Amino acid sequence: MGVPRENTALYVFAVWLPCGVRVAEGGHGFNERDTVLLFVRVCLLRIPGEVHVENCIIILHDVKEVSVKRALVTGITGQVGSYLAESLLADGYGVHGIVRRGSTINTSRIDHLYRDPHDVEARLRLHFADLSDASSLGRVLQEVRPHEVYNLAAQSHVRVSFDVPEYTAEVTGLGTLRLLEAVRASGIPCRFYQASSTEMFGSSPPPQSEETPFRPRSPYAIAKLAAHYFTINYREAYEMHASCGILGNTESPRRGETFVTRKITRAAARIKLGRQEKLHLGNLDAERDWGHARDYVRAIRLIVSQETPDDYVVATGVSHTVREFCEAAFSYHDLDWRRYVEVDPRYFRPTEVDALRGDASKARRVLGWAPTVTFSQLVEEMARADYEAEKRLADS
Ligand code: NAP
Ligand code: GDD
Repeated sequence: MGVPRENTALYVFAVWLPCGVRVAEGGHGFNERDTVLLFVRVCLLRIPGEVHVENCIIILHDVKEVSVKRALVTGITGQVGSYLAESLLADGYGVHGIVRRGSTINTSRIDHLYRDPHDVEARLRLHFADLSDASSLGRVLQEVRPHEVYNLAAQSHVRVSFDVPEYTAEVTGLGTLRLLEAVRASGIPCRFYQASSTEMFGSSPPPQSEETPFRPRSPYAIAKLAAHYFTINYREAYEMHASCGILGNTESPRRGETFVTRKITRAAARIKLGRQEKLHLGNLDAERDWGHARDYVRAIRLIVSQETPDDYVVATGVSHTVREFCEAAFSYHDLDWRRYVEVDPRYFRPTEVDALRGDASKARRVLGWAPTVTFSQLVEEMARADYEAEKRLADS
């Protein structure tokens, strides 16, 4: 299925009052309601030239055809969703995000991208919906009629999935099926991206590639695996342009505070500033392949842009232990991590994934993708960002 491009007109115009005062000009972007109404009436004619309407003379210089693609992003308020929204907006997309209602506003990661929807230049729009509510997904799809759908929403915490297994299966697993089915039923010929995870490899030893058997070890991994296979099934059964990115641990200063990397960099900064004394962690021997969210969003965009839908492992190919991450993050502040970190069995998992290290050879070969941020650059960026944020709090 190809991706349709929608043509819309960009009007290059000037609006003059009879007294000779120019009240507006440009491509779009009015504030005054009356001017907008006049502008619309003239532009409906779509003929360059001079038109006299009521008290104004509107000179329409040119009408250019421009393409606007629309992307629908679930999980836009999350870590990866925020970087993806930035990337799509930078490429001129109209970006529509699904947000769920909370008792407090939870858009802090995308506040810098948000503009009042009354602003005609606003290209980021948010819609209330939920992966557990099929009717809301269908409604938003019909409203947006997207060219690309990115399914990033999930209960994404592995440890928490042992506490809320049914909810995790409901949202992370069945939620994906609901979205796929809503896309299929709508008949909208859009491309679909599913956020799969290297966590699905579970106890299969590294390096893990697209050929590695899945041996999931948590309710989260099993739910992701169901979502992964739902996506593949919809691709095969309905010829949908649906692809999965099997991403390794994706990190950045915007990472959720309870994932191990951010928990460490935040605690190290607070300890340096005298705001915390100890850091309690679980398994320090676990190995993970930590990459930067911005690099991985680049891979996601490349996956969706391929003519043929397919599945790709996206990872750096380099792994470190949680202990090594602690050492690097505390060293940034000239601290010896061993003085501050204590192991608390409450953070152990009933079944652990010992080692993840992705083999992204296929992504390198087919997509031409390669990571740019090294492990030490990633730790440094996260450590610095947390120190600056904690310092602001301490100073306020
Ligand atoms: P994240 O920060 O935890 O963001 C999860 C997003 O899903 C949030 O926007 C959250 O909304 C939304 N969400 C949760 N439940 C929802 C529901 N019922 N309906 C609608 N939205 C819901 O995760 P991330 O790090 O950005 O990861 C993005 C995706 O990639 C996830 O699917 C994750 O499982 C997958 N993945 C992540 C990694 C990684 O290491 N980060 C690696 C591989 C795959 P709220 O803001 O309201 O909570
Ligand atoms: N969260 C957490 N908190 N993890 C800890 C702690 C702790 O206090 N102490 C040790 N760990 C260990 C975990 O046992 C795990 O082996 C490792 O640190 C990484 O844990 P997380 O940062 O929670 O990430 P994850 O690997 O379980 O899952 C993340 O990566 C997956 C991709 O491989 C999540 O982002 C998933 O959504 C994602 O799919």
